[in-house]
Amino acid sequence: MSLDFSTKIGTSRFNNPIFTASGCASSGKELSQFFDLKDLGAMVTKSIMLKPRLGRATPRMAETPSGMLNSIGLQGPGIDTFLENDLAWLHERSVRTIVSIAGETVEEFGQLARRLRSEGQRSGISAIEVNISCPNVENRGQVFACHTDTAAAVIENVRRNLAGEFPIVAKLTPDVTDIVSIAKSVIDAGADGLSLINTLLGMVIDTNTMRPKLAGKTGGLSGPAIRPIAVRAIYQVHQSFPNIPIVGMGGVSSGKDAFELILAGASAVSIGTASFGNPTAVMKVKDELANILQEKGFTDFRLAIGQAHKS
Ligand code: FUM
Repeated sequence: MSLDFSTKIGTSRFNNPIFTASGCASSGKELSQFFDLKDLGAMVTKSIMLKPRLGRATPRMAETPSGMLNSIGLQGPGIDTFLENDLAWLHERSVRTIVSIAGETVEEFGQLARRLRSEGQRSGISAIEVNISCPNVENRGQVFACHTDTAAAVIENVRRNLAGEFPIVAKLTPDVTDIVSIAKSVIDAGADGLSLINTLLGMVIDTNTMRPKLAGKTGGLSGPAIRPIAVRAIYQVHQSFPNIPIVGMGGVSSGKDAFELILAGASAVSIGTASFGNPTAVMKVKDELANILQEKGFTDFRLAIGQAHKS
C-alpha cells in the first residue's frame, strides 16, 4: 500500500514529517556522515543569533533519569558566518532547511528576520523557527514565550520584517501556566505554525561535591522523561487551534513515540536528544513511523494528525 508521507507548514511542503530538532544536530555536517540529509523532512538548524556567541561556561551537560540537562547558552557563529558556511552548505546539497533564530531583544529578532528575507528564495530556506523559549538565558525576562505580550511582540516584529517571504514557526516552552494562551498570542501575531515543546528548566546537584552539576546551575531538560509533557501540550494546543501546524518534539526515539505526538496533533515531529546516542535515530524513526501508518491502514499521513481527538 502506498503512503503519501508529505506534510505542510504554511506554504511550505515537506516530503516527510520527520525533522531534526534545533540544537541537536548543529547544521547537519556531522549527521551527513551517517545518512543523506535529503532524506529528512527538514533539517532544523541550531538557533542562530546576530553575533557570534560562546555560550555558557562548562560543564554544560548532565545526565538525568530518562533524560538530559543542557545549558549550552545559544553558542553559535553569528548570522553572517552561518549564512556563508552552513546555510550555503545545506543549500548546495538541496537539504530542506528550517532556520532557527534567537535574539536578546525584540529588535534583534526583527534584524535577523530582515537578514534572512534578503537571502530570499534562492537560499533554500523552507521556514523560520523563532526560538522565544530557550531556558538558558541570563534572565527569565528574556524567555519571551513566558508571557503573551512579549511572545506576540517578537512574532509581530519577525512577521513585519519577513514580509511573507517564509512561514514562521514559533517555538514555545511548556514552563508556563497556560500554553494555549501563549499559542493564541503568537498565532494572532502572525505565526503560521508552532514548535512544541522546548526543554523544561531543571537542575541537578552533585551529592558528592554538594554543588550544582552545571556551571550555569540550571539547564533545559530533554529526553524520554518529557514526552508526556510534549503530548499534553500538543494535545491542548491542537484542540484549540486544529488548523495550525505543530512541529512536535520531546523525547521521541521511535516511530511509536512519533506516532503518539501525531495522534495528539503534530503535523511533523523533530528528533533531538535521541540523535546523541544514535546518529541514525532520525532515519529509524522515519522508517518505523511509515510502517506503523501503513499497518494502521493510512494512505495519507495527514489523516493521522490529531486522531486522538476524535470521539
Ligand atoms: O542553551 C541552549 O542553547 C538551548 C537552547 C534552547 O533550548 O532553545
